[in-house]
Amino acid sequence: MPEALDSALSEVRALLLGPGLTRAVAAGRRRGQRPSVVRAELRPVTLKAGPRLQIATSDGARPTTRNVAPGAEAGAAVDELLAEPFGNWHVETADATLQLRVTKSGEAQVHRAAASRPTAAAEGHDRAKDWLLDPGDPLFAEIGGSAAKRRQVDAFLRALAATLPDDLTGPLRVVDLGCGNAYLTFAAYRYLTGRGLDVTLVGVDVREDQRRRNSELAERLGWADRVGFVAGTIAEAAVDPAPDLVLALHACDTATDEALARAVRWGARWVLAAPCCHHDLAAQLRSRPAPAPYELLTRQGILRERFADVLTDAVRAGLLRLHGYRAEVVEFVDSQHTPRNLLIRARRTAGAPTESQRTEYRELVDQWGVTPRLETLLDGADGR
Ligand SMILES: C[S@@+](CC[C@H](N)C(=O)[O-])C[C@H]1O[C@@H](n2cnc3c(N)ncnc32)[C@H](O)[C@@H]1O
Repeated sequence: MPEALDSALSEVRALLLGPGLTRAVAAGRRRGQRPSVVRAELRPVTLKAGPRLQIATSDGARPTTRNVAPGAEAGAAVDELLAEPFGNWHVETADATLQLRVTKSGEAQVHRAAASRPTAAAEGHDRAKDWLLDPGDPLFAEIGGSAAKRRQVDAFLRALAATLPDDLTGPLRVVDLGCGNAYLTFAAYRYLTGRGLDVTLVGVDVREDQRRRNSELAERLGWADRVGFVAGTIAEAAVDPAPDLVLALHACDTATDEALARAVRWGARWVLAAPCCHHDLAAQLRSRPAPAPYELLTRQGILRERFADVLTDAVRAGLLRLHGYRAEVVEFVDSQHTPRNLLIRARRTAGAPTESQRTEYRELVDQWGVTPRLETLLDGADGR
């Protein structure tokens, strides 16, 4: 039943400023109106200066984050946001979730439910229990890295933890493709060995200077017999024996396709790849007209780029499915830590694709007239 918008927004205000807030997101727009930002996300954080309400907004191109003090400052900031003509508010608190949608007639359609997740992860983004790997681990003093990188890597490892079976035993061969300065490589080794697994790990990067630096670091850590580095392309670097688990964090552009293709050809059991930039399909979409009736999707440059991102990862997941993997695309870390926060997570099932899955994929790429890089790389591969 629709409710009066004013009183529903008062309820949202009380939740946003109340003690139990976990996270809230405002997005969308009301009929015929346009908010000054496309999205706003609010969450409580604990800084050195004390508790703050963090407000991250995006104008569609650049994110802006500010932390406001509780009390009058937070009240004023929340009132400003509530005055924006957002079409939706989603608010999570310690014990409830409220979803508000503004109807065409300007009323509020409100859905209230019990909390969808525990509050432990809700506040204090620097508390030890929010991390999979202890930030005080001496490993981090050795490998360095920014706070944002540490957060990305920790979140990536959480996704890995959720992917591997709890009862996994035996030797585990892992490869980190496009490993760069090997932050993920070393952290993954620490995490996996901490689970009691017998791990060997190879980091691959095209840069010889990275190989040298990372190998020296592995020596210093005393891990050189288990963690090695190869300079070479993801497509061709020698990795023997074939790995069970393939990791790739922000390998550039089509290097992610090389990583996925390599994983399929190796028959890796698990693949976790967080893509970086997506230039391949963006360029193909730019060079030809969109099929009717989808011209509006690609006419504006920014929309074309975003659509290319979606199309690229959709076809990647579709191709993995055609090669014997169950694949999903998830957000692995909050966008405040990196805008490149999607993760393609795949598990080999060795199942044969159905005819309708093949057709679904083929019709999509044919309709758009594109040839995804991954399709070319997988030509002739079975993977099942
Ligand atoms: C954006 S960095 C990410 C590094 C690391 N995974 C991380 O998240 O910090 C991408 C890395 O991939 C490497 N790279 C890009 N294309 C590659 C390719 N085709 N083969 C091997 N390495 C590649 C680059 O040299 C760079 O170190």
